[in-house]
Amino acid sequence: MEAIRWDAATLYLLDQTRLPAEEIWLSYTDYRAVAEAIKTMVVRGAPAIGVAAAYAYCLAARAGENLAEARETLAASRPTAVNLFWALERMASCKGDLCAEAEAIHKEDIAMCRAMGEHGAAVVPAHARILTHCNAGALATGGYGTALGVIRAAHSAGKVDMVYADETRPLLQGSRLTAYELVSDHIPTTLIADNMAASLMRAGRVDLVLVGCDRMAANGDFANKIGTYSVAVHAQHHAVAFYTVLPCSSIDLSIPDGSHIPIEERGADELRSIGRIQTAPPDVAVWNPAFDVTPHNLLTGIITEKGIIYPPFRENLGRLFGTS
Ligand code: MRU
Repeated sequence: MEAIRWDAATLYLLDQTRLPAEEIWLSYTDYRAVAEAIKTMVVRGAPAIGVAAAYAYCLAARAGENLAEARETLAASRPTAVNLFWALERMASCKGDLCAEAEAIHKEDIAMCRAMGEHGAAVVPAHARILTHCNAGALATGGYGTALGVIRAAHSAGKVDMVYADETRPLLQGSRLTAYELVSDHIPTTLIADNMAASLMRAGRVDLVLVGCDRMAANGDFANKIGTYSVAVHAQHHAVAFYTVLPCSSIDLSIPDGSHIPIEERGADELRSIGRIQTAPPDVAVWNPAFDVTPHNLLTGIITEKGIIYPPFRENLGRLFGTS
């Protein structure tokens, strides 16, 4: 499964706002339209946003646009996932063929997901029952997925009895995208509403939690889809192992801890309605942060393409990047 395709001078994105009901590919030749697609979540998930932005930068270069302006427009699309800024920085500092660089970012992302899958599968016990939140799959990356990459690798090794997919309110990435990916791959899947995770753990039906990451600070605190923090608290309470799975491009060593991660707040109507059905008074006040920060002390380990990092996270992340 994939959500991003590149063909000579055109970027194609699978419209994730329409899944799973309709599989519609949209084509892009203008970087501004790609920025809008990131904003409106036609393409979403931290690594996928980075890949799409890299191709958009390349589209801007091909069209002879002002690249500083293109970078600024793309950077303003979504604030939390650091992969967007990482990819734009890499494109801006590229001296060679920009389209080849975007393709390299895309290919490397898939290779990193495969490596995370291999490393992560080692911590998955036999007959594992795994809970995941949001969508950290092929649709959220260049392909294969981070948390779902580990699940795919562990499933291929015959270790997965069940994956519980949190529905993930308000935009339902868990039910619309994660369940869709897992069912397409014939991986045993059970969908739950977000408020069922604690009871499932209490019933002894979860062996480990695997989630993605949008930005990790130098001390291991990390932002992921809203609701991840409460899953982590519940996992600790029930002594369930809790891992985040991420490429090193999701790590932001320039910030010391999670309090520095900008958290995107989205529109009120995402909570006042589901699709076209109104589910709340139209004038009720709404708080709608798209992400939350999970403190590093709730993490069992961090699964990256370079291996698994265990506490103390600040020291071990520093060692990974050669800064300590
Ligand atoms: O708002 P979204 O759908 O872009 O949020 C996605 C997530 O929070 C994912 O878990 C995260 O990007 C990791 S994707 C490999």
